[in-house]
Amino acid sequence: MINVEKNKNLKEYNTFGIDVNTKLYINIENTIDILESIKFIKNENITNIFVLGGGSNILFMGTFNGLILHINTRGINIISENDKEVYIKAEAGEKWNNLIQFCIEHNFWGLENLSMIPGKVGSSPVQNIGAYGTEVKDVIYELDAYDIFSGEKKIFKNKDCDFGYRRSIFKDKLRNKFIISSVTYKLSKIPKPNISYKGLGEELQKSGGDIYNINDIFKSVCKIRNTKLPNPDIIGNAGSFFKNPLVSSSKLADILREFPDVVYFIQDDGKVKLAAAWLIEKCGWKGKSWGNAAIYEKQPLVLINKGGASSQEIMNLANKIIEDVYSKFDVELEIEVNIVAS
Ligand code: FAD
Ligand code: EPU
Repeated sequence: MINVEKNKNLKEYNTFGIDVNTKLYINIENTIDILESIKFIKNENITNIFVLGGGSNILFMGTFNGLILHINTRGINIISENDKEVYIKAEAGEKWNNLIQFCIEHNFWGLENLSMIPGKVGSSPVQNIGAYGTEVKDVIYELDAYDIFSGEKKIFKNKDCDFGYRRSIFKDKLRNKFIISSVTYKLSKIPKPNISYKGLGEELQKSGGDIYNINDIFKSVCKIRNTKLPNPDIIGNAGSFFKNPLVSSSKLADILREFPDVVYFIQDDGKVKLAAAWLIEKCGWKGKSWGNAAIYEKQPLVLINKGGASSQEIMNLANKIIEDVYSKFDVELEIEVNIVAS
């Protein structure tokens, strides 16, 4: 039986630590809760719905005037395997790092570079999480999702998800239209270390040798992350607030004429990814504050809550940064974090 809570506080449920309430809230612990919630939505004719995972990629802009469905289902299962591959199905509310731990313990390769990303399994496809040369789209086989308004269950194969850099169909056309209930990953039993990210290779070399096991990679990724990213249990934040902008090669040529040291990465499709951290630092913002919001001193892509920040303070700071980067480089920064309007 679902329990519909009223005026629930969400401060503990978003890593920015924004102190806001939601009008209605349902804690989802199993499939029956999903189906009963869908019935409730239909009966009450509710249209403003937000599906919440670990709250590590969102910014609530004020009291949420609708219904929050908080996904807390659990379970990680091997559904099939052979000598080379394994298919793992994880429930959407399972903590991402429990899945990572499971894979490290079993020597299942594919997710290790994504260690220590906060949040839950069900959110991993939403923005196609990525870090240290890996994106989760590389190992997602399929996912199950419920249409919030019709209750119909649908299987999305990898190609149906329209994955791209920090995006998928669920962050775009189907935003707030489906509840992802589980994700199936196709992982390798054969070691497949991906050390293409420069800093990761360097960190691994420090540990000696040139053959790495999955635990070496896990530990090195955690070490790098601990030096660069704030722990959300201590400092309120939602990871990179902005995406790294993708520009054309002619745009890059214009920037290079004035700023020969700009940091960029050429993509497979010929586009160029600029390091937003570099652009923001060059505008002089690194470590600066704006009221109770600030830019993390070790990584300017990350905006932080110094304590008691309002979402408006964080957005004001973000808008200042966007304006400055635009006027200095003629490049538009796009926000990565999901802004949740009331
Ligand atoms: P939430 O913030 O709860 O939700 C994110 C979005 O997904 C929302 O739009 C929500 O509606 C939707 N959603 C959530 N669950 C479901 C579901 N079951 N069905 C349908 N929609 C759903 N991200 C990276 O990609 N790479 C990183 O390296 C990285 N590092 C981070 C470091 C820190 C310190 C922090 C705080 C964040 C970082 N992030 C990173 C961002 C974030 O952790 C990821 O995007 C993560 O996947 C979000 O998971 P969540 O469960 O907290 O999602
Ligand atoms: N840089 C600076 N100044 C700094 C920090 C970095 O100029 O203070 C430059 C450096 O030249 C560096 C480059 O920016 O080479 C890139 O920095 P880094 O490798 O730290 O990664 P990022 O591009 O800032 C991205 C993701 C992170 C992910 C890391 C590691 C985005 C928006 N962010 O950050 O993801 O963990 O790479 O792969 O793509 C997230 O999405 O929330 C997130 C944290």
